[in-house]
Amino acid sequence: MSDRVIIFDTTLRDGEQSPGATMDLPEKLRIARQLEKLGVDVIEAGFPAASEGDFEAVKAIAQAVENVQVAGLARANLKDVDRAWEAVKLARHPRIHTFIATSPIHMQYKLRKSPDEVVAMAVAAVTRAASYTDNVEFSCEDASRSDWDYLVRVVTAAIDAGATTINLPDTVGFAQPDEYGALIRYVIEHTPNAQKAVFSVHCHDDLGLAVANSLSAVKNGARQVELCLSGIGERAGNASLEEFVMALKLRPEYYGVECSINNEQLYPSCHLLSLIIGRPIPANKAVIGSNAFAHESGIHQDGMLKNRNTYEIMTPQAVGRKSTDIVIGKHSGRNAVRTRLEELGYPLNEEQVDAVFHAMKALADKKAHIHDEDLEALVFSEVYRMRVPDRFHLNNVAVQTSMGSTMPATAAVVLQDRDREVRLAGFGAGPIDAAFNVISQLCGTRAELEKFSITAITGGTDAQGEVTVHLRDGRYTAVGRGSDLDIIVASAKAYIDALNRLEHKEKDVISYKENPTD
Ligand code: KIV
Ligand code: ZN
Repeated sequence: MSDRVIIFDTTLRDGEQSPGATMDLPEKLRIARQLEKLGVDVIEAGFPAASEGDFEAVKAIAQAVENVQVAGLARANLKDVDRAWEAVKLARHPRIHTFIATSPIHMQYKLRKSPDEVVAMAVAAVTRAASYTDNVEFSCEDASRSDWDYLVRVVTAAIDAGATTINLPDTVGFAQPDEYGALIRYVIEHTPNAQKAVFSVHCHDDLGLAVANSLSAVKNGARQVELCLSGIGERAGNASLEEFVMALKLRPEYYGVECSINNEQLYPSCHLLSLIIGRPIPANKAVIGSNAFAHESGIHQDGMLKNRNTYEIMTPQAVGRKSTDIVIGKHSGRNAVRTRLEELGYPLNEEQVDAVFHAMKALADKKAHIHDEDLEALVFSEVYRMRVPDRFHLNNVAVQTSMGSTMPATAAVVLQDRDREVRLAGFGAGPIDAAFNVISQLCGTRAELEKFSITAITGGTDAQGEVTVHLRDGRYTAVGRGSDLDIIVASAKAYIDALNRLEHKEKDVISYKENPTD
């Protein structure tokens, strides 16, 4: 058996099914390029039959990356399989991933099919997929609640039909590590043609066991593991890529297997995802959280000073966390700007970096701190030259609120709406609510606020507050960010940033596809 585990990343498919993690095409392309840099073996880019948007995204990713396989998901029917192939066929290394449920509860209630019918559907789908490519993955959805001997029957038939990877998911996160490991071993040992396929696992985190189950599966013969950055995914999420990978890397004597991941790209990858979906990395998140390398207790600090290995099993540098964050501003050099652009998922050429650098210097004359969202806006305006300038700018905001009073909070806002200055005052349940009410009236938006969060960028009571706002207008969603010493100002900026992004959303997606520089 091979001693190499194939890392299959499904951040752009299962991960994107996580509530609030929807990404548009340019965002998916940035993640895909970062995943290639991270060194994953397979990118599951989406579910082409699910929507036109998914189809276009898979197709674009298939053409944008080179050194990684690109998979498209398909239910076990011929139409889905054909659509998946249409989307991935231009990839250098295409894969079709087809699946059908094999547990009694799914077959009876969801599919309303008999076990025999399910085997026939699996065989038909795999046969069709294998007529297009010899890189075919077949998944038995809800495998961990399926009958083990029935699994052997389906898997044997799928391999005979041409499947080269067999995935046995713990779809509902129900399995326990020992039991799941035993299931994987049983199916491998009892499938007569098992040597013709790589066995894979895909674990959900409903009981917080997704990584433990994946590792147990590896101990028992699985040689592909399906993972998501930061463990995002359907419901409680999927197994977290960074946790799984670091367990393999730190305990080679225990697992005895290798993988191709460049561990110094783990934090940059999760950070990029966090910026794109507007979901901060929790401080206590294993491997990549800010507390993962912070030592608070005196005993621990003392131990660390004497020898870091006393309380640290890996260094922050090993997962790509820098000891200092580069702050971009007036005095930053070209190199710092290039590095930050790369971290944001924009690998630009020298000429393009120059254009953003000069625009950044001009902007830095007007504002003290250049934030990531400012740099991104400059990439769009200076390099892709297609994002029309933001329509709204916050000129001023003032709020009044008094403790214990029955008076609602009031806010007065002055906005620039293109070349027109507009102003209005109004009320709200609190100061932020008042500011948002006034801004939404001034901008004439129907967008709904889906999520709002504040974090402190730096420590202390003089910290910069960073606000993230998620807005939805019909089928479009946008994440806006704003930071300031005053959290009301930061909130107003974030809200306006999200409104501007919403305005550009459709236009950006279309022109990005057409842009030759991409
Ligand atoms: O959780 C699951 O079973 C899946 C399959 C489609 C692989 O996501
Ligand atoms: Zn899943």
